[in-house]
Amino acid sequence: MRSAMVEALTLTTEEARSPAAPPLRVARTSAEWVAYFRANRERLLAIPWDAGAGVTPEELAKIVDSLRAWQLGETSEGTTLIRTAEKHAARIGDPDFVDVIRLFIAEEQRHGETLGLFLDAAGVPRATRDLGDSLFRVFRHFLTRMEVWATIVVIIEVHALLYYAAVRRATGSAILRRICEQLLRDEVPHIRFQCEQLALIHRRRGRVLRWLTAGAHRFLFTGITLAVWAGHRRALRAGGFTFRRFWRGAWAKMRAAWRMMDPATYRWPT
Ligand SMILES: [Fe+2]
Ligand SMILES: [Fe+2]
Repeated sequence: MRSAMVEALTLTTEEARSPAAPPLRVARTSAEWVAYFRANRERLLAIPWDAGAGVTPEELAKIVDSLRAWQLGETSEGTTLIRTAEKHAARIGDPDFVDVIRLFIAEEQRHGETLGLFLDAAGVPRATRDLGDSLFRVFRHFLTRMEVWATIVVIIEVHALLYYAAVRRATGSAILRRICEQLLRDEVPHIRFQCEQLALIHRRRGRVLRWLTAGAHRFLFTGITLAVWAGHRRALRAGGFTFRRFWRGAWAKMRAAWRMMDPATYRWPT
């Protein structure tokens, strides 16, 4: 009762300080993320596999190379990530965090497998190598800090939102459209998850270091946005994106992610 009153008073003070500011976010605990991921896998959209691939050769020609690369990118064993998560979990004293990461990896593997089944249905061989993916996989072995890993992943997931929306628009295939809907549904909470982890990591950082971090984010984001356009522009164009529209859309979504990883927008447990 007393703590509820204290909380109410704290909120009132915060609101009084900045009456126009949106209410502070509350980050989910690892146990809540575990519950989310478990519940999510029980409520997947039905994919009408019996309908067949249902994609025209013209549609397929525009998206197939890029789809094969994304399919490969969504497929990962995640062993390096689990090791990184174990170290991070020990450092922050949150053993449940490793379970969240295992469930997250399983969800990404489902994305890869579902896209793979679509390629199978369309009679397209799955990719085993892709330049962008190989670079990421090599680079990923250096991602032994949770912060670096989450930063790269959140940037890629922001682009995934634009990419799967484009593929959905670029095809009449009922299967592929439904897969894209499912992936889009899943990626939004993934972005929230990474942002919450980053907010927690950035929380105790001083102003100068935060400013440097923001600069590094913008540098990485610009490079990845240009690389995604260079590698996937045919599919993105088929989905209605010009470079300008893609660039603006990516920045708008990334700005929202940056707000979500700002520690000042959270109410932290004391
Ligand atoms: Fe994914
Ligand atoms: Fe994701």
